[in-house]
Amino acid sequence: MTSSALKGGVHRAWRHESAEKHVTGRAVYIDDMPSVPGTQEVWLATSPHPHARIRSIDCAAARAVPGVSAVVTAADIPGVNDVAPIFSGEPILADGVAEYAGHPVAAVAASDRDTARRAAALVAVDYELFEPVLTIEEAMERESYVAAPQVMKRGDAAAAIAAAPHRISGEAGCGGQDHFYLEGQVALAVPQEDSDMTVYSSTQHPTEVQHGVAHTLGVPANAVTVEVRRMGGAFGGKESQATIVAAIAAVLARATGLPVKLRLARDDDMIVTGKRHDFLFRYEVGFDEQGRIAGLDILFAARAGNVADLSTSVMGRALCHADNCYDIPNAHFRGYCCKTNTVSNTAFRGFGGPQGMVVIELAIEHIARTLGMDVEAVRRANYYGDAPRNVTPYGQVVDDNVIGEVVDGISGKADYEARRREVAAFNESSPVIKKGIAMVPIKFGISFNVKSLNQAGALVHVYTDGSVHLNHGGTEMGQGLYVKIAQVVSEAFQIDLDRIRVSPASTDKVPNTSATAASSGSDLNGMAALDAANRIKERMTGVAAEHFGVEPGEIRFADNRIYAGNRSLTFDELAKMSWAERVSLSATGFYRTPDIHWDGETMQGRPFFYYAYGACIAEVAIDTLTGENRVLRADILEDCGTSLNPAIDLGQIEGGFVQGMGWVTTEELWWDAGGRLRTHGPSTYKIPGSRDVPPAFNVHILEDSPNPHPTIFRSKAVGEPPLMLALSVWLAIRDAVSALADHRRFVRLDPPATPERVLAAVEEVRAP
Ligand code: MTE
Ligand code: MOS
Repeated sequence: MTSSALKGGVHRAWRHESAEKHVTGRAVYIDDMPSVPGTQEVWLATSPHPHARIRSIDCAAARAVPGVSAVVTAADIPGVNDVAPIFSGEPILADGVAEYAGHPVAAVAASDRDTARRAAALVAVDYELFEPVLTIEEAMERESYVAAPQVMKRGDAAAAIAAAPHRISGEAGCGGQDHFYLEGQVALAVPQEDSDMTVYSSTQHPTEVQHGVAHTLGVPANAVTVEVRRMGGAFGGKESQATIVAAIAAVLARATGLPVKLRLARDDDMIVTGKRHDFLFRYEVGFDEQGRIAGLDILFAARAGNVADLSTSVMGRALCHADNCYDIPNAHFRGYCCKTNTVSNTAFRGFGGPQGMVVIELAIEHIARTLGMDVEAVRRANYYGDAPRNVTPYGQVVDDNVIGEVVDGISGKADYEARRREVAAFNESSPVIKKGIAMVPIKFGISFNVKSLNQAGALVHVYTDGSVHLNHGGTEMGQGLYVKIAQVVSEAFQIDLDRIRVSPASTDKVPNTSATAASSGSDLNGMAALDAANRIKERMTGVAAEHFGVEPGEIRFADNRIYAGNRSLTFDELAKMSWAERVSLSATGFYRTPDIHWDGETMQGRPFFYYAYGACIAEVAIDTLTGENRVLRADILEDCGTSLNPAIDLGQIEGGFVQGMGWVTTEELWWDAGGRLRTHGPSTYKIPGSRDVPPAFNVHILEDSPNPHPTIFRSKAVGEPPLMLALSVWLAIRDAVSALADHRRFVRLDPPATPERVLAAVEEVRAP
């Protein structure tokens, strides 16, 4: 395939295309763009109440502040005040009613941010207070949902549970998570001729921002261009919610006729925009003496917040991952997206998958404790296997199962059995500090559950000097998508990577794109870019064949040259020659994922093109007097198919795991009785720091494991799956607590396992 002389190509460890700029601070984010004179900055006036009717808004005092150029409310929006990604009725500025503490009510543009901030404080709103619904429990009681409940069924769970030799039930929950991207939500809207608008947005979804801006301005999509060079992290938080920020900036740009930048301060970013959904679970499971699950019934309730946003899709993915790696012959899963007077929750790495896996992993442990069995033996009794033990609760056949290989692989590499004995021996002689160790296997479905989203486009130009311009619908958020797609084009043309320039994602180059999400960025855009490159390559091949007087089949691209036998041309020479022959050196490419279908009503189908697998073994220590905990070691084996770029994938695995570790340990969102988020900055909301990274951290990529499904160069997606590996940390903490009662009791310890919760669990397990 690729010769080592080529400075490019796939399956090789090339650095992130902006690595040097990232570390030297020269990468340009929207707030770093040189300001055009006259650029206005924005501050939002937000509701302090979680639920209130807006009787009136008086903006006169705010408008009178010198330097203020515009103050807008819902009444000033020229088009439709709605940016809902799936449903409708999701305003950018509260219209008649404020539905959460932090709901934007008015937006102020001024010559600078401080002036805008001072003026925003003068916006006077007359509220009539309503009773808020704040928690999942309250919402469930009142049947307050943002959409109809979702139900997934396989077999007859109730009958199987009733007939099973053993039955247990339980309740648990898991917390939400703030994205805490380093670059907060930001957009710069620049008015153009006529009614056109160019928007620089930190968004994973340029097309949705384009639509949202067009709707709110009341102009057609072709009047709005959205450009994204890079994001300083997104993690799902900029999939739908970036649209709100961009649309408010655009409305103010229209009102003032000036460029307008809206950059949310960290506290506002955390208060005003949504997070990972926290969940409540109730489960009932029937099983036999061997721990084999016969039937499983789960109620999932998620805090959706004030509007639906992407909640039903997140819930869909939760239900589709409540099996994780286990065959559930009879399943009954119900999902409720609760409408609450809190900020609208949204996509977050894993997109409901992590929450779905929490409850099944808990059920597995619950079974083990009940039977007095080893947790791993219960896992083994339930893993997906050959038919008929290979059908998911949603009807998809698991036809690419490598769970056994991954679990055995990591158990061997991490010396799991011996270390479990060591941990037990340590605990014998350590009364205060207890260790715990646990493994988690992961199976994560790749593709969007909505079939239409699984498509992508690309645009490739070859210039006459042999340099290549590459554009595709995907966005760069740090995950290394741009270098991966450049590698694909480099592989196709057999030219060095440094000849290929990836230009910012832009809605006028590649239209009608999907969000860069669901970990499918490289799968989708890689294929589209390959299609475009191959179209040009075919034309260039024709020119070369003519030139050498051979059949096109005899032409070969290698090492920046084009060969016919031992005669050759450089790539630049052939580019120039093609131009002279009046052959087009520009092409668009397109891709749609094959073999997928989904019925959202019955929740059955084949929603995923394939699965990505992985496993992690984590070892922790807890202090039984304070509840403090540390991850001592983590060993990971991740299935990346044949990795497009092992260096980038390694970074995704490490980063995803540590982010997941934060979710299950320190990151706790806390709302007060008045519905106000009180953890809205780094002083109160604790993401993992560099010293929280496990001192022993061994990451392996599964070798010789090409994707059996025809993905881009047989690779697999890697963006989200590693986050779920961190469930092993939570399970290891549970293991440490459970050691206090010789692993004979099952206690409640929901993620995040903060010191307080660990301490409470320690007390519970020690209670007589
Ligand atoms: N990695 C970095 N550095 N920054 C991010 O914002 N987002 C994650 C993941 N990895 C993210 C990241 C999420 S939520 C997704 S869906 C994927 O990247 C999206 O990119 P991909 O489809 O190209 O993997
Ligand atoms: Mo990722 S949560 O699909 O943006």
